[in-house]
Amino acid sequence: MPRLNAGTRHIIRFTLNGRPAAFEVEPRMLLTDALRHLLGATGTHVGCEHGVCGCCTVIIDGVPARACLTLAVQAEGCEIRTIEGLAPSPARLAALQAAFRRHHALQCGFCTAGILMSLDAFLAIHPNPSVEELREVLSGHLCRCTGYAPIIAAALEAAAKLREDAVHV
Ligand code: FES
Ligand code: FES
Repeated sequence: MPRLNAGTRHIIRFTLNGRPAAFEVEPRMLLTDALRHLLGATGTHVGCEHGVCGCCTVIIDGVPARACLTLAVQAEGCEIRTIEGLAPSPARLAALQAAFRRHHALQCGFCTAGILMSLDAFLAIHPNPSVEELREVLSGHLCRCTGYAPIIAAALEAAAKLREDAVHV
């Protein structure tokens, strides 16, 4: 791993939601702050800032990660997905988003972006999840106002829809 000078800014290049992106950051800057303040990607929320609440979850090279525990410089060369890239188009929600809306699986929505990103990554490799597996995934996320039952119902419905779509591709 290269040693970076703490006092200077470094240009970091990566892919954000399928498009080339870059920011210029000091080594101490967090990925949450760089995404939100330098790129305007404010869909990634900041709750606890120490890895507990899951609000800041993004996908880095296919794996969910706490952006509040990731330095922005660690994004170099990575493929990063955030909530802004989840919907297939501005006019169409992703299956998970649509199911969350149908099941009223959010109220204030503060936790929702992180939950959606974790579930998206999980369903990509576990297309037919059990309730217990979904509970395990959600154990990494704190939701203080919805309750988890509608979130699990939405995730199950989205998983079924994604399996059905996969058959018809
Ligand atoms: Fe990152 Fe809470 S803000 S886990
Ligand atoms: Fe409000 Fe989860 S919807 S914290």
